[in-house]
Amino acid sequence: MSLRRPSKEQPKNFDFNSTSLEVAKSIIAKYPKDKQQSAVMALLYIAQKQNSNWIPLAAMKYIGKFLDMPYIKVYEVATFYTMYNLAPVGKHLIQVCTTTPCMIRGAYKLVEACKEKISENENELSKDQSCSWMEVECLGACVNAPMLQINDDYYEDLDKEKTLKILDKILSGEATKPGSYRGRVNNEPENNRKTLMDLKNA
Ligand code: FES
Repeated sequence: MSLRRPSKEQPKNFDFNSTSLEVAKSIIAKYPKDKQQSAVMALLYIAQKQNSNWIPLAAMKYIGKFLDMPYIKVYEVATFYTMYNLAPVGKHLIQVCTTTPCMIRGAYKLVEACKEKISENENELSKDQSCSWMEVECLGACVNAPMLQINDDYYEDLDKEKTLKILDKILSGEATKPGSYRGRVNNEPENNRKTLMDLKNA
């Protein structure tokens, strides 16, 4: 389980830039007039995108004022979900799922690979400052366990050796291919279908 603490180093101020402001206003407009607080998750995500993929406390305060809701409520949302980063992360953020289905399929071997290639501790930047890694709870791809997420993409059916190769590529600036590393299409069964055999289009 990842330890989630706001960074000790915090900027004093945060404001949406013009692009973020425009997106935030268009999202808020989708909610009824007195329900704008429902947009808090989307606004946190916008703030994160604007601020190099992490959310400073100043941004939570700004969003609280923006949505007319108490700062502590924004803080509670931001600190609950692992999709929000509370401290600076690498340009390549590697999230390793270590919840039970991935754990029993070898997730900690993937963690070992991250420790070897990126940094000894999670939430620490690699030597070249380009990558960081963290453990997260279930990412909803248990059937392709063990897996990890790099920025917006899922890498599935992994083992330590495959993970090391992926990380080597990322660290040397090469493109990597998301998806199953055992050649499965999405989460199809290996060695053909085993159920619903009498249905043509199943
Ligand atoms: S347990 Fe890892 S994706 Fe669900």
